[in-house]
Amino acid sequence: MPNERESAGPSNSDQGSEVSEAQIAVHWREEGYYYPTAKFIGQANASDPAIRERFSEEHFPECFREYADLLDWDQYWHTTLDTSNPPFWKWFVGGRLNASYNCVDRHLPKARNRAALIWVPEIESEETRTVTYGELYARVNEFAAVLKDFCGLKAGDRITFHMPMVPELPVAMLAAARLGVIHSEVFGGFSGAACGDRIADSDSHVLVTIDGYWRNGQVSDHKVKADEAIARAAELGGRIDKVLVWRRKQGEYLSDTPMVPGRDFFVDDLLKDYKDRIVEPVSMPAEAPLFLMYTSGTTGRPKGCQHSTGGYLAYVAGTSKFYQDIHPEDTYWCFADIGWITGHSYIVYGPLALGTTSVMYEGVPTYPDAGRPWRIAERLGVTTFHTAPTTIRMLRKLGPDEPTKYRYSFKHMTTVGEPIEPEVWRWYYDVVGKGEAAIVDTWWQTENGGFLGSTLPALQPMKPGSCGPGVLGVYPVIYDENGDEVPAGSGRAGNICIRNPWPGIFQTIWNQPDRFVQLYYEKYNRDKNSTDWHDWPYFAGDGAMKATDGYFRILGRVDDVVNVAGHRLGTKELESAALTVPEVAEAAAVPVIDELRGRVVEMYVSLKPGYSASAEMEDKVSKALEIQIGKIARPKSVWIVPDMPKTRSGKIMRRVIAGISNFGEVGDISTLANPDIVDTIRHHVQAKKLAQGDVGRELTKEEREEIEAYGSAD
Ligand code: WTA
Repeated sequence: MPNERESAGPSNSDQGSEVSEAQIAVHWREEGYYYPTAKFIGQANASDPAIRERFSEEHFPECFREYADLLDWDQYWHTTLDTSNPPFWKWFVGGRLNASYNCVDRHLPKARNRAALIWVPEIESEETRTVTYGELYARVNEFAAVLKDFCGLKAGDRITFHMPMVPELPVAMLAAARLGVIHSEVFGGFSGAACGDRIADSDSHVLVTIDGYWRNGQVSDHKVKADEAIARAAELGGRIDKVLVWRRKQGEYLSDTPMVPGRDFFVDDLLKDYKDRIVEPVSMPAEAPLFLMYTSGTTGRPKGCQHSTGGYLAYVAGTSKFYQDIHPEDTYWCFADIGWITGHSYIVYGPLALGTTSVMYEGVPTYPDAGRPWRIAERLGVTTFHTAPTTIRMLRKLGPDEPTKYRYSFKHMTTVGEPIEPEVWRWYYDVVGKGEAAIVDTWWQTENGGFLGSTLPALQPMKPGSCGPGVLGVYPVIYDENGDEVPAGSGRAGNICIRNPWPGIFQTIWNQPDRFVQLYYEKYNRDKNSTDWHDWPYFAGDGAMKATDGYFRILGRVDDVVNVAGHRLGTKELESAALTVPEVAEAAAVPVIDELRGRVVEMYVSLKPGYSASAEMEDKVSKALEIQIGKIARPKSVWIVPDMPKTRSGKIMRRVIAGISNFGEVGDISTLANPDIVDTIRHHVQAKKLAQGDVGRELTKEEREEIEAYGSAD
């Protein structure tokens, strides 16, 4: 580990000078360290290096008592980690608690009048809304009463939310948690069909939605998606009894779709009957599921990642305290969407468990201009800022000097969701953070509940492009395909795995326990009868390299998932969406390197006999992806090709077309049944790209490897 507490500012002097490091430098320059300021260190929650000793492997798993002790328990647990049924780990067994109580009630004596949420609407002239802890308590209780008495929901039932970034979403989450009802929030930008899939999979009978919301200066009709979702869920055997519709603006209805009598209810109408109602929080076992968060995998069916109450909440509270450096008096702004895991853990549960003020913003970062986030930060006095590389790239491109025009001052900033390029990191540090804010680059996944890789902001220096070492109590390792460890500083990448369980790890894939074991544990399991956690490394599905200082550099997914602007889209999901167009015979989705969004999707399709390529057909495919998944999945291009490159067994070789789309190598095509098609496709696609002024760019070694490996998980 590098020396701690050196002088502030960048330095290149501490670099490991081993030959192996120098070899990495051939294609990737080893970056210098940046050190946090003395001012930051002076106020940090984790500033005593002894904390690392407390979480060292010899103190595992008891070290996590320190996280659990950040919560109020109705009943203390007797077993910190139960490994008797691997890999279905159980944390804090015997303990009971309520997540809503921990995020709301317990703060009242000290912080009744402190803002819990500050909500900034997209329209700049519309008033910012503050919800104090006292008001949050009242609203959560009233909505919990609606769920309990009007909807008849009880502990263990599921409820689906399809909500955008409005304060009613955290209110609804905490109301469900109060009753032990398992919530499943579907990202508001997802389509009705995608929501319907998740309703059916989770077997929810109540859907909570909103009439509309602002997005990029326009009102987006959202209620229409509820009708689509219910229709889709019904096709899959699901059933929704009640739809609760919040209204974005009092007294108005922003949707064109009619309310269905007996099924759809305005929440504001219902609440009149539940005014001032108090609902006792239900004391839940630590291992009771708190929520499901769906994410993409290598097959079409989304995976409902099931997160626990005790382990999850302890983990997000602990990591929010030590890695986000959240203090109750901070004004903390995580510029992500609550519809993703980042928002669940680091807008709602972590910050509120610690009793801080969490800012929510309704709209897009650059509305009405690229100075918007910095105006918000200045006006609200934001101390701590958290966002994704895709947003940072966009703000840098559209307003490189905007941050200098505003007098906000961040002490801490986070980047999450995708690898960040060192140049982009430096802009974030120098311009957004004004050279003062400590940055954490946090690596983790929907499945993980909270951070896995990051620097401790006051204790471990930053290194652009690297997330840092494993976080407290998490011991990562890189394995090659044979399960041998790839040593630090070897310059070789491999599969990053976590050797041990941690409290935030998801419990299972909802209703798919076998798939859970197969996808995350089978690959490196040493003995399936062993109840020793050492035999069950967690396979994260990311490629990574470890440098001699123990810092990890994450290269991206090794499976068929395209990470678009920090959001995981499954190849199979994209392809099945394209196949809903009746004329399409075959479809293949590939990732294309994109300067702004990290990766974007290009869709290759071949048509059934009798149909021919046209711009309308391309549109139809594009539209299908938008309808089935959401705008985020809209492909950069749709290429209609006469045939796909295939192996003799008929498997589409995605890496070949991925190579073409990226102006890269197509690799070995000798095993193809139809090798001639490769040149035909290349000519067609690249000529069109060049005509559009898209010449691609030279790929880095890692990007090349990623593209060449694409589709190999088939
Ligand atoms: C990628 C988001 C590099 C990674 C919290 C992972 C990252 C996937 C980073 C999970 C980071 C996330 N640096 N890559 N700091 N953070 N990733 O489930 O490929 O939406 O597997 O969770 O994003 O995406 P997910």
